[in-house]
Amino acid sequence: MSETKTILISGANRGIGNEVARTFAKAGWNVSMGMRKPTMPDWAGTVDPAKLQVFAYDATDSEAPKEWVKAAREQFGGIDAVVANAGIMVRKSAVDVTDAEFDSLIDVNVNGPRRLVQACWNSLLEKGRGRVVIVSSLSGKRVKSAISGAYSVSKYAALGLSHAFRHAGFEQGVRTTALCPGFVATDMGTPLAGGNPDGLTTAGDVAESIFHVINLPNSASVSELWMNCSLDDSY
Ligand SMILES: NC(=O)c1ccc[n+]([C@@H]2O[C@H](COP(=O)([O-])OP(=O)(O)OC[C@H]3O[C@@H](n4cnc5c(N)ncnc54)[C@H](OP(=O)(O)O)[C@@H]3O)[C@@H](O)[C@H]2O)c1
Repeated sequence: MSETKTILISGANRGIGNEVARTFAKAGWNVSMGMRKPTMPDWAGTVDPAKLQVFAYDATDSEAPKEWVKAAREQFGGIDAVVANAGIMVRKSAVDVTDAEFDSLIDVNVNGPRRLVQACWNSLLEKGRGRVVIVSSLSGKRVKSAISGAYSVSKYAALGLSHAFRHAGFEQGVRTTALCPGFVATDMGTPLAGGNPDGLTTAGDVAESIFHVINLPNSASVSELWMNCSLDDSY
């Protein structure tokens, strides 16, 4: 029998992160879920509880990833994949954003993933086929509107971070993907799309895509994955 694989997912308590956790748990992976207020998900009873872990993780806390990785290794033995998903939106243009707001966008959306992947790095190298997914956004590919400008800057940086990890780990079998969705029907995305979730990409769609990418062999590296529910110039 093959060894059970282990994945860490940040911001796993709701939205995209919760669906990613559920998808991997359903497939029999060990799933370690980082969240600010650790609570077992409502679907926990549908899978083997021994394969689930919740851990206190705040993306702004520089020590949290190391503690989380230690706890995951203690419970599951190793780490095969990490999804840096936790993120925030500030609906302000690059002109109107304050220093404090911009600092938090960079801290949560860029430094958070950087610190989390760094903490996982040696564990991923051990596997010879580690996997990293950084949840960026189509806002990391183009600035859609003035009001999404400040957020876009952070997501362009997250995209660059993903490519930087892809280069750093490629020779040792680590494959890194920047996931770039448009509007997703979550607490974050639905209001941005005008309040109606109908027709938006679902968190489950995103989770299935991440599952597919993570399970591809080393010979099929996906550097960026764009997805959209509406027509965009190029995406
Ligand atoms: N929805 C979209 O349209 C869309 C499109 C493109 C990209 N994205 C990206 O997808 C990711 C997930 O977004 P979502 O749509 O699922 O949004 P969401 O429903 O608002 O969920 C955001 C998640 O991030 C967590 N989070 C926020 N700040 C955190 C912090 N300091 N430390 C730890 N966790 C933190 C939240 O935890 P709490 O519950 O504690 O706040 C929550 O779990 C984000 O990176 C977002 O930028 C979303």
